[in-house]
Amino acid sequence: MFELKSFYTCDNLLRQLALWRADDRCRPVLLTPYVQSEDLEKQKKWAERITSSESEFFFYIFDNNVLVGYCALIKVKMVPSNAELSILIDPDKARRGYGTKAIRWLLGVAFEELGLNCVYSEVYANTERHKFFEKFFTFDGTIRARKFWKGKFYDSRMYSILKNEFFLDKL
Ligand SMILES: CC(C)(COP(=O)(O)OP(=O)(O)OC[C@H]1O[C@@H](n2cnc3c(N)ncnc32)[C@H](O)[C@@H]1OP(=O)(O)O)[C@@H](O)C(=O)NCCC(=O)NCCS
Repeated sequence: MFELKSFYTCDNLLRQLALWRADDRCRPVLLTPYVQSEDLEKQKKWAERITSSESEFFFYIFDNNVLVGYCALIKVKMVPSNAELSILIDPDKARRGYGTKAIRWLLGVAFEELGLNCVYSEVYANTERHKFFEKFFTFDGTIRARKFWKGKFYDSRMYSILKNEFFLDKL
């Protein structure tokens, strides 16, 4: 069974997230070019901070009780009613439809539960990941030189979806 659960502190789950974030297949898509700390205490502090935050909503993604990724609405602003979307799927389980299911669910939270008007995402141009976002979002434009990866600067491609577009899509 596919399900998303709000973040809670669990050593094994947090360890798994740290391993994915350090994986060479995931690092190109992350904000920081550095391998992040696997220190469990730091991970726990991070989880505690975000679970008490009113501007960040993180969810574990499970399939048959196995963690397959996480997704989040971050920088949630009730005025002017927008949030940024973040998602990471287990690199060993990519292209199995988990990302698609998770994004639909997360947009439901954003537009139906939180009542937001716009969800956006920043996708670095050093990967082909933008093809995934093009399935759901509209391309808004480019921000230059936002990612430094293996000695080169890469642009960001900005994508967004508005509430009325999500409801149209659901019809
Ligand atoms: C990008 C990501 C969120 C997509 O989630 P997912 O569960 O793998 O995506 P889905 O199976 O729902 O993919 C749906 C469609 O999006 C597109 N897509 C997804 N990931 C893609 C990728 N990396 N490159 C190009 N297109 C991609 C494809 O059209 C895919 O359909 P197809 O597999 O039938 O061709 C997820 O793979 C992820 O977090 N990866 C982390 C590492 C990463 O981004 N690597 C990419 C480096 S190129």
